[in-house]
Amino acid sequence: MARRPLIAGNWKMNGLKKDGRALAAGLAKLMKKEKKPAFEMLVCPPYPLIDRVVEAVKGSGIKVGGQDSHTAVSGAHTGDVSPAMLADLGCKYVILGHSERRTDHGEKDALVKAKAEAAIAAGLKVIVCVGETLAQREKGQTIAVNRRQVRGSLPDGADAKNTVIAYEPVWAIGTGLTATPEQAQEVHAEIRATLAGLIGGEADKMRILYGGSMKPGNAGELMAQPDIDGGLIGGAALKVEDFWGIAKSC
Ligand code: 13P
Repeated sequence: MARRPLIAGNWKMNGLKKDGRALAAGLAKLMKKEKKPAFEMLVCPPYPLIDRVVEAVKGSGIKVGGQDSHTAVSGAHTGDVSPAMLADLGCKYVILGHSERRTDHGEKDALVKAKAEAAIAAGLKVIVCVGETLAQREKGQTIAVNRRQVRGSLPDGADAKNTVIAYEPVWAIGTGLTATPEQAQEVHAEIRATLAGLIGGEADKMRILYGGSMKPGNAGELMAQPDIDGGLIGGAALKVEDFWGIAKSC
């Protein structure tokens, strides 16, 4: 099953106006020169930068996404942003259930699922994140944790067009420690098997991204694994050369 790799940059809480514009414009310039990109490229800036990043990537084929969105379309939810607002700005995707949201904001699987269903209803594609902590890995709970998170967070009606899964081992995020290609592949294959139990044949078409200290130097061997269909990239997504280098290793 040929799945088109998705190279997604999660900028997290980084970048002022000038940084966002420069990063987006630098990537757009490279992308415009690419005749037939072997990958789909996505950047997910913090909310205040979305509008200008959408402007800066216009005509390049690069898509823009949010890093979180609410379950409601509008209402009394101070500080939150709805999926309809992201779609209105020109976003095509939203990242949901990132481990930093699970930790910083206590997000649980049921909330991630509800957010994902609301985002899909608003016309967005969702990137649902799962991943074990170091303590869970050391206790031999890796497979069980990822299975539970996939089962609990996958939106009803998920298909390969509206949903992407990102496996991000928490111990590999921003630490410089990367899962080996074999470690990552083992979990990706388990996630795909779990998906098959939930959505049948659609699981074969659904993209599963790896995230956690992905760089130009390790992206090629990770993405060469049969069940790794791209990357969700943090630190290395903040530099044009690094992010582009990762994309080109598809
Ligand atoms: P790093 O690439 O900085 O490890 O971050 C990964 C991540 O959390 C992407 O969502």
